[in-house]
Amino acid sequence: MSGVDFHYYEPSQGHGLKYNPLNALIAPRPIGWISSRDAEGRVNLAPYSFFNAFNYDPPIIGFSSIAWKDSVRNASETGEFVWNLVTRELGDRMNATSAPLPHGVDEFPIAGLTAVPGRVVNVPRVGESRAAMECKVIDIVQFRNTGGDKVNGWLVLGEVVAVYIDKLLIDDGVYQTAQALPIMRAGGLNDYVQVSPENVFQIMRLTGAGSKEHHGA
Ligand SMILES: Cc1cc2nc3c(=O)[nH]c(=O)nc-3n(C[C@H](O)[C@H](O)[C@H](O)COP(=O)(O)O)c2cc1C
Repeated sequence: MSGVDFHYYEPSQGHGLKYNPLNALIAPRPIGWISSRDAEGRVNLAPYSFFNAFNYDPPIIGFSSIAWKDSVRNASETGEFVWNLVTRELGDRMNATSAPLPHGVDEFPIAGLTAVPGRVVNVPRVGESRAAMECKVIDIVQFRNTGGDKVNGWLVLGEVVAVYIDKLLIDDGVYQTAQALPIMRAGGLNDYVQVSPENVFQIMRLTGAGSKEHHGA
């Protein structure tokens, strides 16, 4: 864009701002509220906003851990995790599960949440969440920099093997994203955005004749 006075920086030299703008630029981000279990069977729950869906068939979702935290450790030990939907009324309890607690401490009772046993995986989901996905780990990738050096961050990818959706959020066969009032991580340390029905609008999708595209990615 011409005529704009850009703040330009190269991350390896520092961003020159008060707060790193990376996750304020890539925002709002969906929250992966990840439950998992370690090799000894102890349950864990924590939020990850470096989270997204990456493939349709089979469905693959993933989160990234900045450091070897309990969720990535557990996913590597047992090969399973569960994604739970965070909606507005669960915001404070989600935040409570982000506290840095010693390994092996179960965040479910601390945050006043109900652990409901999984059906396909041996990891509980959050009973209060209106949607959840049980996943089996397919890959854990440690990041590298451009010099090829390993860095302290991991991407955990899982194939979705079971899905739960509150039927009240399905209207005529269509899941109503905004009706659930999901919250998403925005810029600063404490900022979130709530998705609400009044913020939804349409841009008609261009699907060429003969296109195999039927997904909404
Ligand atoms: C909304 C939210 C999003 C977060 N996203 C991430 C993330 O993407 N990656 C990360 O490493 N930590 C993230 N954190 C911090 C972790 O939740 C926190 O370090 C937590 O203690 C990790 O728990 P665990 O060790 O039980 O996995 C986030 C925290 C909050 C409140």
